[in-house]
Amino acid sequence: MSSQVPSNKKERSADTQATSSVRNETQRRRTFAIISHPDAGKTTLTEKLLLYSGMIRTAGMVRGRKTGKKASSDWMAMEQERGISITASAMQFEYKDAVINVLDTPGHQDFSEDTYRTLMAADSAIMVIDAAKGVEAQTRKLFAVCAMRGIPVLTFINKMDLPGRDPFELVAEVEEVLGIDACPINWPVGSGRDFRGVADCTTKRLTLFEKTAAGGSQRAASQTLSIDEAVESNVLTDELSSHLKFELELLDEAGNTYEEERFLSGKLTRVYFGSALTNFGLEPFFDSFIETAPPPGPRLADFDDGSEGFVDPSENPFSAFVFKIQSNMDPKHRDSMAFLRICSGEFKRENPVMHVPSKKEIRLSRSHRMFGGERDTIDSAFPGDIVGVINPGVFSIGDTISSEGNFAFKPLPQFSPEVVARIRPTSIGRRKAFDKGIAQLCQEGAVQVLYRKDGGAQETLVAAVGALQFEVLQFRLSQDYQVETAIDILSYRCGAWLVGDVSTFKRHSRALLAEDAKGRTVMLFQSEREKEFAAQQNPDHTLVHFVQ
Ligand code: G4P
Repeated sequence: MSSQVPSNKKERSADTQATSSVRNETQRRRTFAIISHPDAGKTTLTEKLLLYSGMIRTAGMVRGRKTGKKASSDWMAMEQERGISITASAMQFEYKDAVINVLDTPGHQDFSEDTYRTLMAADSAIMVIDAAKGVEAQTRKLFAVCAMRGIPVLTFINKMDLPGRDPFELVAEVEEVLGIDACPINWPVGSGRDFRGVADCTTKRLTLFEKTAAGGSQRAASQTLSIDEAVESNVLTDELSSHLKFELELLDEAGNTYEEERFLSGKLTRVYFGSALTNFGLEPFFDSFIETAPPPGPRLADFDDGSEGFVDPSENPFSAFVFKIQSNMDPKHRDSMAFLRICSGEFKRENPVMHVPSKKEIRLSRSHRMFGGERDTIDSAFPGDIVGVINPGVFSIGDTISSEGNFAFKPLPQFSPEVVARIRPTSIGRRKAFDKGIAQLCQEGAVQVLYRKDGGAQETLVAAVGALQFEVLQFRLSQDYQVETAIDILSYRCGAWLVGDVSTFKRHSRALLAEDAKGRTVMLFQSEREKEFAAQQNPDHTLVHFVQ
């Protein structure tokens, strides 16, 4: 699993130096995604991470606050101002000694397969929960992908400055709804208008914050002291302090004990409280995140000799996999970009590498980060980093690229669709080009093709996680294959692969039986409730949400 042994002493020493530099760089990396339901505060938290890392001087640029619109061009302005690099897929910057790679998990109307696939490139996740709303639908779905991968998840219960639910109730909900143990690392001191800061559950010391005149756009000043000191100096009322003491005692007696191994394998989540808007509780959270979230670790692969093994980030030479392909709709750059997550070794732009599926040697000389709206060439990168490369048509989602070419990372899973449509070329004469385009775009992972198995004609259906994919599909068919199409969105909102004998599966007439491109049975339901009902009715069958 390691590179060829160097023949002489000088080469060996250079090799050791290179390995140690890769090891050091790897240890500094934290590559993660923020998962949340829309409006829980993901954007605000990301922006505050930039504020606390010193990348921006004032927060409040990212969101067009008055219009409520995401102002993506402001990200660009920030890039130009401070040299933050954004690959349209990840943002990289330093926080204290760590190198942060925040993966972008598109939400709202952009929610798609990419959102899920991005989680395949993350080493950990921050789950943001709105204290008034608890665990919401989109958070559940995204968490399920993290759970499948067994990556560590840190929970940030946000908006503590607003009236919210009881913290014990929220922690219990995380455990029940997500089926994971939750271990509070800190605890809120007051809530709503009385929210003052957080208490460390182990040391019982408080970090109390002060509101700044500039609102949340500047770091909030804080002081750390004991509960008694806080009462003596009148920063905490007797009532608030005795309530807090009681809650901390209750946690000591009834709370989960923290076990690092369970956290690292995704079975236990570390829970923090705070307010991303007012900055209360952010620094303790960010510091704790850097300390406890893991750097890039080994990744499982299939080797050419038929064995299965782990590829180590610093012991193995360069390797990466493609987790996202984005066709550029900008007429200035009419090409597609493949986003690579580096898994081992140092990426060097000029070095030849092997595209494992085709066993072809390629050079990734056109490798980029986006920089101030312009592409910026990137010469070197390390495990955990994300690099965008121009896709000359060779890359598909999940492909392995490496300098040795003797293994392939496990394929990325397919995710159950949430929107289904019937699509056809408007001109019969373009049928061949249409079929070719659909096959190609399926391979790129833009959509999945399903074949209807019952109820009349054997129609071709396209399915995706988010409806935006259909727009992309129609655009690409028109631009790249000169095929105009008509599309009818069907009423199915929830799909799952069926494991078990299809002939004995009891189903409602509203459910549709289909097959995917690999001949696996897919059931399409009109709602989550109908799917849950079908699962209850068929205890001997299993409905699964991911397939390899
Ligand atoms: P998202 O990316 O997860 O969708 O959420 P985003 O950060 O955009 O936040 C959604 C709304 O919640 C925003 O308000 C934001 O200001 C607010 N928010 C985020 N964190 C906190 C918090 O800790 N406390 C409070 N009180 N509010 C928070 P908005 O009304 O949609 O926009 P705006 O007018 O405030 O910009």
